[in-house]
Amino acid sequence: MSPIVTVEHIGKSFKGLRALHDVSFTVEPGEVLGIIGPNGAGKTTLFNCMAGMFPPSTGTVHYEGQDVTGWSDARLARAGMVRTFQLMRPFGSMTVLENVAVAAAARGESEKEAEEEGWEILQRVGLSQYATRTSKDLPTAGLKRLELARALALHPRVLMLDEVLAGLVPTERQPVIDLLLSIRDEGATLLFVEHVMAAVMALSDRVLVLNQGEMLAFGTPEEVVANPDVIEAYLGDEVTDADAH
Ligand SMILES: Nc1ncnc2c1ncn2[C@@H]1O[C@H](COP(=O)(O)OP(=O)(O)O)[C@@H](O)[C@H]1O
Ligand SMILES: [Mg+2]
Repeated sequence: MSPIVTVEHIGKSFKGLRALHDVSFTVEPGEVLGIIGPNGAGKTTLFNCMAGMFPPSTGTVHYEGQDVTGWSDARLARAGMVRTFQLMRPFGSMTVLENVAVAAAARGESEKEAEEEGWEILQRVGLSQYATRTSKDLPTAGLKRLELARALALHPRVLMLDEVLAGLVPTERQPVIDLLLSIRDEGATLLFVEHVMAAVMALSDRVLVLNQGEMLAFGTPEEVVANPDVIEAYLGDEVTDADAH
């Protein structure tokens, strides 16, 4: 099977600050790739480069065999490569349902179809009771689910999740983890940045570790947590402070 995503020598500098340097990896179709690393390691920058927020300074991204480097987020989303944001940004004045329906409509659905699909997705993510409230009324856990709902409305083949569990108390996490597993079981490929190590270990087929913009390790969860470089750079102090970000 050929990879669904191939990242080669990707790098990004901001006014001389090297946020990301020479990162290369592949993602297989249907794989769950966890991405970990200390605060400021370049995890969000990697997603931004891959998902069209801004082009990388160096390197390329291939998706389904096509060079998509520098494509806009909207174009990538239409092609099936979708990301969520660490800092959620729903349309605050719209209702929760409208926020999801807008995403479905962006795929070309009629208003009625988009609304029907919005309801289905809200049910799936456990938000239907909030459907007619404005999204700014949602608590953090609800906003996280809304981010996921909007991403699902785009029918992602590759879904990139930036800290969907951050800010959730442990009892709120399991339903989200179960939802991610169901998305995976439907055939989507998942890339997720996460600090909650228990979730990374449970969900990931492979784990990519970033540190100071560079790739520190890439392997199975077991390989990565046993890697002395990873323990020193990240797990040593952060494992006891699993929600730091
Ligand atoms: N848009 C930006 N402009 C300038 N510097 C940025 C920008 N985004 C990220 N950085 C910097 O790049 C580095 C990596 O940040 P980020 O990718 O957000 O790390 P992480 O998500 O791993 O915590 C940090 O030093 C951060 O301050
Ligand atoms: Mg980040």
